[in-house]
Amino acid sequence: MEQSTYIMIKPDAVARGLIAPIISRFEATGLCIDRLELGMVTREQAEANYAEHEGKPFYESLIAYITSGPVVKMVLSGPEAVLVCRKLMGATNPLDAAPGTIRGDFGLTMEANIVHGSDSPESAKREIEIFFGG
Ligand code: RTP
Ligand code: MG
Repeated sequence: MEQSTYIMIKPDAVARGLIAPIISRFEATGLCIDRLELGMVTREQAEANYAEHEGKPFYESLIAYITSGPVVKMVLSGPEAVLVCRKLMGATNPLDAAPGTIRGDFGLTMEANIVHGSDSPESAKREIEIFFGG
């Protein structure tokens, strides 16, 4: 099914100069890059994006981290785009992420885990609205 998904290259990966190799992984699947922007995440956007985690022990540090420096915001589309990107990204904890996945190859810690990707078509719609206004 044709879908759109929201992907974000997190501050740590941008600071480490990993934008190009990470975008290459997504491009290599054949998914289409519809939107692409470098910029900061506002506190409001961060809270809206991670609303499901409010109240959890890691919530405040997650918000502080994602607003700490520039990120790359993207919308990708194509067949099963949400699932394709989640598989490409690997498990949330880079220590559990398989080699060959983005988190497995570039990440080391749960917080600085390189990329964010929508976890369902509904989340994707919500997140694209938050970051690109629809
Ligand atoms: P994301 O939303 O960033 O794409 O990551 P995800 O779906 O794989 O994982 P999720 O459960 O949505 O968690 C969001 C982000 O919160 C941090 N986290 N820390 N310390 C912890 O137990 C913990 N759990 C989650 C991670 O940075 C994760 O990407
Ligand atoms: Mg998530």
